[in-house]
Amino acid sequence: MTPDARLARLTDGYVVTQLLWVAAELRIADELAGGPRTAEELAEKVGADAGALRRVLRGLAAEEVFEELPDRRFGLTATSELLREGVEGSQRGAVLARGGLYYGALAGLLDAVRDGGTPFERVHGMTFFQYLDAQPANSARFQGSMAVRAVREAAAVVEAYDFRRFRSLVDVGGGSGVLLREILGAAPQLSATLFDRPEVVRDAQLPAVGGDFFSDVPAGADAYVLSRVIHDWTDDEAVAILRTVRRAIPDTGTLLLVEAVLPERAADDPAAIRMDVHMLTLLGGQERTADEFAALLDVGGFRLDRVLPTGPRSGVHVLVARPV
Ligand SMILES: C[S@@+](CC[C@H](N)C(=O)[O-])C[C@H]1O[C@@H](n2cnc3c(N)ncnc32)[C@H](O)[C@@H]1O
Repeated sequence: MTPDARLARLTDGYVVTQLLWVAAELRIADELAGGPRTAEELAEKVGADAGALRRVLRGLAAEEVFEELPDRRFGLTATSELLREGVEGSQRGAVLARGGLYYGALAGLLDAVRDGGTPFERVHGMTFFQYLDAQPANSARFQGSMAVRAVREAAAVVEAYDFRRFRSLVDVGGGSGVLLREILGAAPQLSATLFDRPEVVRDAQLPAVGGDFFSDVPAGADAYVLSRVIHDWTDDEAVAILRTVRRAIPDTGTLLLVEAVLPERAADDPAAIRMDVHMLTLLGGQERTADEFAALLDVGGFRLDRVLPTGPRSGVHVLVARPV
């Protein structure tokens, strides 16, 4: 691709995000699972304007998301297969969260880069989690996106790290318990505790404790896992969370962070870099390099021992740290 064509295509990235969102909301890929259909047939089925839908589908066909057949029908490709709900590797949840929830917040990025603050809060006048609390549909969108990602990561984490070495473990900020269930599948002898905000663990199907990781976490376990928690927070907040865990963990314990690790050169891991921009936009948090994690752990009362990559598609590493 020539530089001018490449730049023009990147500039129109905002269009592609919305085309994908429209297709995901209308469940076009699910409708095409039985075979190719025309825009008119699809519009009738999903309740849409046939002319506008056809232009959206051609927009996505130009990106090779759908296949445009000579008889005006559209079909699935390997890419749009992943827009279907519930298929292995489905990205429908991620598309819904980006198109319907994250998209608007990017409008606040320039002001935030110039003058500070969090783009999401500039646009919506409240924090990301306050907004989710006020909007159950968006909260469901976000949780759906998290759950699919967590399932993919959990399998890779358990493959990369042997949890059978521990007797007890606390998953701090463990959310719905996707990772903890996977860990227990591999290490059923573990006495495991899911720790998260009281509203989150209220209906947990696992041994769970509700609380605030800025105050206290359950004490005395061999291992503490924080998966995708530290990246939500600024350095000062992250250190405060680590210090809470340090007060609870025995001197012989192990702290495991499950996080993306930023490459030194952005081009080496574009997906991790994009996630860092999501953190900047939504929460004021950040992804970090291994050196930045080591420095943070040091201030929080730990020493970083090892950084283990997990499978190539998972996007996360296991950072193994010891109390000092
Ligand atoms: C990005 S999610 C990560 C969830 C899960 N560990 C995973 O890997 O998918 C961050 C988690 O931190 C929890 N959390 C946020 N603030 C908290 C607090 N003050 N105390 C305890 N948990 C908190 C959230 O409820 C959420 O489940």
